[in-house]
Amino acid sequence: MGQEKPWGGRFQQGTDPAVERFTASIHFDRELARYDIRGSIAHARMLGRAGVIPQADADAIVTGLEAILRDLEAGALALDPKLEDIHMNVEARLRERVGAVAGKLHTGRSRNDQIATDLALYLRDVARGVRRGLVELRRALVLRAREHVDTVLPGYTHLQRAQPVRLAHHWLAFVEMLGRDAERFADLRKRLARCPLGSGAIAGSTLPLDRADTARSLGFDAPGRNSMDAVASRDAALEFLSAAAIAMVNLSRLAEELVLWSTAEFGFVELSDAYSTGSSLMPQKKNPDVPELVRGKAGRVIGDLVALLTVVKGLPLTYNRDLQEDKEPLFDAAATLRDSLHVMAGAIATLTVQTDRMRAAAEDPMLLATDLAEALVRAGVPFREAHEVVGKLVAHCLSERLDLRTLSKETLQRFHAAFTADAGELLALERALEERSMPGATARSRVVEALAEAERLLAAEDAALAQEEESHP
Ligand code: ARG
Repeated sequence: MGQEKPWGGRFQQGTDPAVERFTASIHFDRELARYDIRGSIAHARMLGRAGVIPQADADAIVTGLEAILRDLEAGALALDPKLEDIHMNVEARLRERVGAVAGKLHTGRSRNDQIATDLALYLRDVARGVRRGLVELRRALVLRAREHVDTVLPGYTHLQRAQPVRLAHHWLAFVEMLGRDAERFADLRKRLARCPLGSGAIAGSTLPLDRADTARSLGFDAPGRNSMDAVASRDAALEFLSAAAIAMVNLSRLAEELVLWSTAEFGFVELSDAYSTGSSLMPQKKNPDVPELVRGKAGRVIGDLVALLTVVKGLPLTYNRDLQEDKEPLFDAAATLRDSLHVMAGAIATLTVQTDRMRAAAEDPMLLATDLAEALVRAGVPFREAHEVVGKLVAHCLSERLDLRTLSKETLQRFHAAFTADAGELLALERALEERSMPGATARSRVVEALAEAERLLAAEDAALAQEEESHP
């Protein structure tokens, strides 16, 4: 029944076709092909150098694998769906090229340490790709922020107008958030520093493998310290997924603001035609599908994290086949995050900002109520008392339909004797912005300073990425 097993020595029966389909991972393993081949090249070289197999055999294997890698890169590597996974596919291709000597490649190796190595190489690469995407989006935000240092809008808490801020300040908040995301992905490298190869299926090998050799040639700092940990653990994948989920959640907040701000009710921004779509029914509609999908896809990536957490939870040491389920969530999250970063960068870069609408909303005099309270504080009034007094002034303005800024000194003094000027002198939008001049606040000079700092950090990150790419291509 079914197909004959590839290492079927101990079996009397082939595998049921349904089981073959059920256990196969080849349909998504392609993503790992280049790492699998690179890992095999390093392993074969080591086998030769360490004298585990004759040097001539190692050379033949390496030459064959290099040709397979070139085929892959040229899009010409056919993967056979009948061969369960990427490891078996590569070995089968190798056998076609170099014959029986291909059977020596798997010496001292198991698919368990092999897949763990593939994943580590994959994660290292993909984390770098995500960091590139995070640079791209922050660049777009910083560039637009530069244009909008003097664009003022209400800042919100509870989605209620709170205090006026510069649009540059608002977008730089996202630059900070995304910068921490980039740090998380860069930090992951530390947990990917040790090479699983040489751990074998679980306990190492009786053969004189040179683990330092493979570790070095694959760009790891050292071999893994514990063979059982090396084949059983997926916490670096979990860390990638959790960093990805956090990044998507951050992105979803930026996305939500684009959705909200492009409503007629807000009218703060208009997405470019290239980043919005129409309705199949309502001719007047221009829908913010791109940010909506980014917001929605955050759900998927959170799901990817939860999926793998759940797979790993409670698994006894060491390798269990459950772990094959690590790949699809990982690949999905990586692709989703990369694409989301890219389209958000484009949406931000091409956005029209309705500065007049923002300004009009920011002119709401109530946004200056805190400033009035702080004027009393400067006159020595305890803040709690000042807050109470200004609260009453606000209520007075609301019931009498008055603009807070038009209250005379005499009116103000009816509420508190410590007022020494007309409200008009105390309250002005520009002044409210400029008086917030401490580090991290929204005064012009601080925002300009923050922009320069953000640009400096982005340039440094760019250089670090370029250097990493050079040392571990
Ligand atoms: N395709 C497997 C995975 O993704 C490779 C390791 C298989 N190991 C095994 N002992 N069946 O995890």
